[in-house]
Amino acid sequence: MFEYYLLLTLLIIILFIVISSLRIGISPMPTSKSVKNIIVPMLQNSQKDTIIDLGSGFGTLAIFLAVNFPNKKVIGYELSFFAFLVSLILKYILRIKNLYFYKKDFLKQDLKNCDLICYLYPKGMKKLENKLFEDQINTTIISNTFAFRNIKPKKIIKDKSFINTTIYVYKT
Ligand SMILES: C[S@@+](CC[C@H](N)C(=O)[O-])C[C@H]1O[C@@H](n2cnc3c(N)ncnc32)[C@H](O)[C@@H]1O
Repeated sequence: MFEYYLLLTLLIIILFIVISSLRIGISPMPTSKSVKNIIVPMLQNSQKDTIIDLGSGFGTLAIFLAVNFPNKKVIGYELSFFAFLVSLILKYILRIKNLYFYKKDFLKQDLKNCDLICYLYPKGMKKLENKLFEDQINTTIISNTFAFRNIKPKKIIKDKSFINTTIYVYKT
């Protein structure tokens, strides 16, 4: 009987994640290890004190960044409730002090004076691009897989693993 309830609970959670992914436009799919290892050196020379993961999903990328940059504040904004919950639980289990997760729409947050990381989808990139123009945000933005339509990337890096992801680096 216990197994039945456990399975039912898991199915309900998966269903909620699927529904919220359809509503938001993308699932909480995490960035691969090889891409994480490309992102870290890119942030090493930054003078900014804060890194924001725009849509932090289950929190694995933000956790990786917080561990690699213990002197910086790492923030993750996420809309999907269960993904946010998992990230929060991981933060407390791992006791990472410089990491903060918020269940908020990053489009409504102040993104100035921070390095920005994202792994979104074409429509999400368009919305972010509009916000960067409207709020006049000058910063470094590292985007996993998806490019902006109007801003030219400063650098394009190909992940050499079998996933072969493209990473776009912008200086706006
Ligand atoms: C592909 S996942 C990336 C997760 C994580 N950043 C990583 O790279 O491992 C994209 C996440 O962005 C979230 N998202 C999309 N638009 C958002 C918005 N406007 N505000 C907050 N989160 C958003 C989605 O819910 C999804 O979990």
